[in-house]
Amino acid sequence: MRLLVTGGAGFIGSHFARRLAERGEHVVVLDKLTYAGNRANLEGVEHEFHHGDIADPDAVARAARGCDAIVNFAAETHVDRSILGPAEFILTDVLGTQVLLDHARHAQLRLVHVSTDEVYGDIPLGAPACTEDAPLRTSSPYSASKAGGELQVFAYVRTFGVDALVTRGANTYGPRQYPEKFLPLFITNAFDGRHLPVYGDGKQRREWLHVEDHCDAIEIALRCGAAGEAYNISGQERENMDVVKRILELTGASPDLVRHVEDRPGHDRRYAVDSSKLRALGWSPAHSFDAGGLEETVEWYRANREWWEPIKSGEYRRYYDAQYAARLG
Ligand code: NAD
Ligand code: TYD
Repeated sequence: MRLLVTGGAGFIGSHFARRLAERGEHVVVLDKLTYAGNRANLEGVEHEFHHGDIADPDAVARAARGCDAIVNFAAETHVDRSILGPAEFILTDVLGTQVLLDHARHAQLRLVHVSTDEVYGDIPLGAPACTEDAPLRTSSPYSASKAGGELQVFAYVRTFGVDALVTRGANTYGPRQYPEKFLPLFITNAFDGRHLPVYGDGKQRREWLHVEDHCDAIEIALRCGAAGEAYNISGQERENMDVVKRILELTGASPDLVRHVEDRPGHDRRYAVDSSKLRALGWSPAHSFDAGGLEETVEWYRANREWWEPIKSGEYRRYYDAQYAARLG
């Protein structure tokens, strides 16, 4: 199989490209190399690389030549950045998805569109995990742009008969995640003796999904999923403050580093998804967040400073100051 992996130089996309290449599949990566894209993530992975934008039809056509399917990881992905500046999110997550769909339509390719559990918005505490038919009630410009991309997918399936489907994964963790997201930010700050900026009361809840389990799920959706369907991919639900306490234990950092700071506007309190539909296709997670998953991730960041230290300068510092300077005082 010859597969186009868009956004393959990012966190989850690079894990996905790696596993397929190791199995001998021909992997083509199309990536714009935004601040979050990193060729080092693909070191040792046999692949064909195209530097380009998924919103550019010519770049997509060049990269997709001869491919059997597309798996779309390319996106602007960070909620806080979407609050600082939403425009880029619309261009990539909505318009870029539509350009990929146009190509899939004309070249008759299967497209798996990687989306997020954030499209459901808040799930009230105590309410059951939601199934795929729950309404989309987005809160942030990020989740709204992801929902916009999804709706294009469903429209192209229904109107043009495109063979496309959507996955909705939970918060993902593991090696090589850009240190703007909660876990890698807090782990690397803990190693550096910097503050851990907890938004609000820290009682928000997220489901934590190991990146390899997320990739397993996407692969099952690629091979066995039905066109026009969405598939939830759940993780293990934990309160943010419990995760922070565990990070302090695992890194040996002082609890004095924890700062409760001004909350994120529109902050969703809880995500919780039911993944029975994907489990019926054979998916089951192999990693436990508490028994090894988080600990191995912390150890990866401890052992791979040369990966994250260069990132935490330049553009990252400008973003960090815009996001945290006033919050941390
Ligand atoms: P990431 O931010 O680490 O990587 C995104 C990649 O996309 C980068 O390599 C970037 O250069 C590339 N990219 C951005 N805009 C592009 C464009 N216009 N054209 C081509 N490439 C472009 O993201 P991630 O965390 O690996 O997320 C991958 C996908 O999974 C996203 O669609 C995201 O919405 C979804 N997702 C992420 C999580 C999570 O917790 N990280 C959870 C559920 C779903
Ligand atoms: P994040 O990694 O941004 O993912 P999500 O897209 O689910 O918001 O954040 C995960 C949780 O951690 C979320 O409840 C917000 C919280 N958080 C903080 O408390 N402080 C931070 O600096 C960040 C980045 C996140």
